Amino acid sequence: MELTQEQVENFNSNGYLVFPSLFNPDEVALLNGEVADLYSRNRPENVREKSGEVRTNFAAHLYNEIYAKLARHPRLVKPVVQILKEQVYMHQFKINGKAAFSGDVWQWHQDFATWKNDDGMPSARAMNIAIFLDEVNEFNGPLMFIPGSHEKGVLDASHDTDTTSYPLWVCDEDTVGKLVDRGGIVAPKGIAGTAVLFHGCMVHSSSNNLSPWARKTVYLSLCAISNHITKYKRPEFKAQRDFSPIECLADDCLLDNQVEVSLPWKEGFDKEPA
Ligand code: SIN
Ligand code: MN
Repeated sequence: MELTQEQVENFNSNGYLVFPSLFNPDEVALLNGEVADLYSRNRPENVREKSGEVRTNFAAHLYNEIYAKLARHPRLVKPVVQILKEQVYMHQFKINGKAAFSGDVWQWHQDFATWKNDDGMPSARAMNIAIFLDEVNEFNGPLMFIPGSHEKGVLDASHDTDTTSYPLWVCDEDTVGKLVDRGGIVAPKGIAGTAVLFHGCMVHSSSNNLSPWARKTVYLSLCAISNHITKYKRPEFKAQRDFSPIECLADDCLLDNQVEVSLPWKEGFDKEPA
């Protein structure tokens, strides 16, 4: 998949792009079919909400075959390589749950604030591409973006360890207010299989999910190989140490049973952070 010039310009000015139905219903069903098993594991890779529901499952691409293929999918990796003009490695891979009725908030933040402060990532030459595993609507806690906020670069952030079960470098309310005055807020919605690409400095958040519909989303955080992290404070399942470039599989890899992928953490990952 090659981005058009117009898409590249939109990304540069708004900081995000939406790809409706990037994955078809068969591919989405395959991805969804793995989640219950991944979420049922009592392992450190599953970070749970205060309610006990899984908030985030980390690094499934290293121990689940379908997600290992997704992590090498050309529809996800190639647009990022095109924008960064460099090969990329997987900095982080996660499946967020946003469970029906109880899925908790994500405060306003920039991912690059965490990548810089916790992981020593040199610059914002990294970004996320998210795939909706469920329909995202106005009721189930859609991701919210402040268009153009990525142009501000990395903003001051404070480390919030209390609000949710997950520590996060968050933006202050005054800064968010000013950015919203300028850019407004958008919340991309769409059917399962839709994808959203967004800049590492995009200011984003999501509300809690009071609806009866889960809002599971996969996030690939892809980083230019020359921009790899320099600090190993977080466990490897949250901040990967393998900086080798991703080699894409074929476009039909998800539905092709012949494709083989390596699963280095098949037995799980339980080492303490370095
Ligand atoms: C994130 O910002 O990393 C996740 C936000 C969400 O899934 O709502
Ligand atoms: Mn984020």
